[in-house]
Amino acid sequence: MKKLIAGNWKMNGSLAANEALLSALAQGLAVDQPLCDVAVCVPAPYLAQVHALVSSQPALSVLGLGAQDVSNQASGAYTGEVSAAMLRELGCRYVIVGHSERRQYHGETDAVVAGKVQQALAAAVTPIVCVGETLSEREAGQTEAVVKRQLAAVIHANGHCISEIVVAYEPVWAIGTGKTASPEEAQAVHAVLRAQLKAATDQAARVKILYGGSMNASNAASLLAQPDIDGGLIGGASLKAPDFLTIIAAARA
Ligand code: 13P
Repeated sequence: MKKLIAGNWKMNGSLAANEALLSALAQGLAVDQPLCDVAVCVPAPYLAQVHALVSSQPALSVLGLGAQDVSNQASGAYTGEVSAAMLRELGCRYVIVGHSERRQYHGETDAVVAGKVQQALAAAVTPIVCVGETLSEREAGQTEAVVKRQLAAVIHANGHCISEIVVAYEPVWAIGTGKTASPEEAQAVHAVLRAQLKAATDQAARVKILYGGSMNASNAASLLAQPDIDGGLIGGASLKAPDFLTIIAAARA
């Protein structure tokens, strides 16, 4: 399966910084076209800018545009929310759903995350559904139970459409900390998620399961070599063009 390397810019960037980052990516991609799918998930106010820049530079045409969150409602009196239809209209192919930073700081429950996935799928935007355990959950031996519970809520609410999602395993203790799950630790959880998807759909083999959490230019190749690691969701390293390009190159195999 073609791997997917998705950058999550989080709450970073500016009009000027985005333009500089994308033009550095364009230079790299012009000489070395990726053999994997690539996406950048940018803050909502910059979706239109990034869409315009990506559309105007042929080397960037491989970049799929993504958002970082979506409402679990279709439209109406939900001040501050952004709907899946709006994202679609702005050219989004992807949206990150249920990132641990949203679960942790914005109280997103498994049910809310499942509703967001429903909205994204209904608007033909591919949700990148994040699951992952905290350090204390890992230390208590609950990793498997936690990620299975998080994914089960999404499977339950989305039935046969489940093969249309992308899953991202992001151990919370590895995000932004410089601590990465070892390739074997990550693969073990990915295998659990794959088995859970297999029980829900006969299309599980084509669901991409990304790893996220301090993936960088040096460790990407060994993580991406694992049989059930189908790509990466990259935070910090996606803001540095040379690092992001190295990770994209590592996903060729
Ligand atoms: P870092 O790559 O900065 O650890 O972030 C990972 C992440 O949260 C991507 O969604």
